Amino acid sequence: MPISDSTREQLDELVARYPRPRSALMPMLHLLQSIEGEVTPDGIGACADAAGVSAAEATAVASFYTMYKRRPGATHHIGVCVNTMCGLLGGDAVYDALAQRLGVGHDQATEDGAFWLERIECQAACTHAPVMTVDWEFMDDVTPSSAVDVVDRLARGEEVASTRGPVIRDWRASERTLAFPEDGLAGEGTPVDAKMLAGLAVAKERGMAAPGVPDPAPTAGPEATA
Ligand code: FES
Repeated sequence: MPISDSTREQLDELVARYPRPRSALMPMLHLLQSIEGEVTPDGIGACADAAGVSAAEATAVASFYTMYKRRPGATHHIGVCVNTMCGLLGGDAVYDALAQRLGVGHDQATEDGAFWLERIECQAACTHAPVMTVDWEFMDDVTPSSAVDVVDRLARGEEVASTRGPVIRDWRASERTLAFPEDGLAGEGTPVDAKMLAGLAVAKERGMAAPGVPDPAPTAGPEATA
């Protein structure tokens, strides 16, 4: 589907935010997903035009990162971390419960287009493992039953809030935030809690400090090697 003039204007707006046009490629791809629900060949072409790179270069970025989807997904993206910490603490059981509830497997959407399930990699949220994300908002310390409850509440149209962020909107809205972060929601929820700061508290109690950064090694040259 051809890319609209409005979308192209927004792509140009993103390019103008970065010192080098190609640096805007990743937010541009998120913007496309927020508007079109996927990254299409026409969308990749529009990004390439705006960033001044070849379609092959833009395709390389779009096909490397799993957050970029080359086919339509669903209203809500459900990610379940199954990396080491989350896996050890029950991430696979959470994934299995959700797969059974939704009747889909990895990277599949439900027939009604409401949910889309994906095994995901570490979200740097291991403090609250096992972690699941809904439209990239965190749900911390989930269990199989609490994860299914989140999906049930969303399916009933109830308001569901991230355990440390804003009320869940939908995947496309989150994708727009990844392109244009000024959504006014940065102050929502409780982004930092005592569990996250526990290590810092122990370090302070014990008077521990990080080692200093060593001076850079001298540049090799005639004097340094003499
Ligand atoms: S291993 Fe799951 S958030 Fe790090």
